[in-house]
Amino acid sequence: MAIISSKQQSPQPDGQPKQRRGSAERRNLPKAAPESGILQPIAAADEEGKQEESLRPQRLADYIGQKDLKGVLEIAIQAAKGRGETMDHLLLYGPPGLGKTTMSLILATEMGVNCKITAAPALERPRDIAGILVSLNPGDILFIDEIHRLSRLTEELLYPAMEDFRLDITTGKGQTAKTRSLPLPKFTLVGATTRVGSLTSPLRDRFGLIQRLRFYEPDELTLIVQRTAEILQAPVTEDGAEEIARRARGTPRIANRLLKRVRDYAQVKKYGDINQDVAAEALELFNVDPRGLDWTDRLVLSVIIEQFNGGPVGLEALAASTGEDAQTIEEVYEPYLLQIGYLHRTPRGRVATPAARKHLGYE
Ligand code: ADE
Repeated sequence: MAIISSKQQSPQPDGQPKQRRGSAERRNLPKAAPESGILQPIAAADEEGKQEESLRPQRLADYIGQKDLKGVLEIAIQAAKGRGETMDHLLLYGPPGLGKTTMSLILATEMGVNCKITAAPALERPRDIAGILVSLNPGDILFIDEIHRLSRLTEELLYPAMEDFRLDITTGKGQTAKTRSLPLPKFTLVGATTRVGSLTSPLRDRFGLIQRLRFYEPDELTLIVQRTAEILQAPVTEDGAEEIARRARGTPRIANRLLKRVRDYAQVKKYGDINQDVAAEALELFNVDPRGLDWTDRLVLSVIIEQFNGGPVGLEALAASTGEDAQTIEEVYEPYLLQIGYLHRTPRGRVATPAARKHLGYE
């Protein structure tokens, strides 16, 4: 399967906290910030290459988790194949690292077509998307990551392309402007976003299927860790895989990354199998706590508890007090804290829950 990837680096390459605040003295806060970015759900540059490819499941049957999504896609694939048509355009949304790109590649394999991968920041000029659209073969899948970030002109070119498989090219300006239409092959657009609410409604309405990816359950992540360990030939016991899974923030990409770090640790320390103790010891070293929280998660929660009396506190105030970017708090840290019930979002702001207080060792 040909993959053309014009994917750009995410705006936050290492996801490290921007400031080292003078507040490390605060009670319950670890004294040092982690340096590895090991828990960032965004793919590191070296993971976008061969290794992450080799760990991806290739077929729907090999894909662990996301049962509802798989059910919907199984029907859509069979129906499209039965009619000899392309699949409807598909919008996948949810936190990063949950398998949107993987699912798009699987769809291509299942449909027997190619998948071209790009991301909205690489499509700034209308000619960027025009070039890709005219290069598609009939039935191909075009995957656009971060689709909520498309420029207005690029988005407007996509409307007729999605609806009528037509590329409208305008030349000239004002009264002398002329529009020419080029027919395009039928294709399936798979859009991926972490911010479905930021999509314009004309774009959202052009997707026949809109599906959410959820955080993975610990037992699903355990299976993913075991599967990856087999591919990497890393000997891991069941309780070792469970320990890694528990600390992986519901995210396969993080689970696989933690497994690789634990494997290195076990090798250097000359331990045999990766069991629960080895995994826990290794991940403590990387500052990944037993619920998968890192330094910034703990900072965010501690600031709410200590400076804002447990909340509610508005996002901007929280960002200012932690020295973290508001969007990063909202898109990277909060989804998991909400998922595990350590944070609530209320109309008046964020609130740290009793479970968060307990986890951090507050009374
Ligand atoms: N590797 C990463 N994500 C996976 C998944 N959902 N199923 C199987 N292997 C994976």
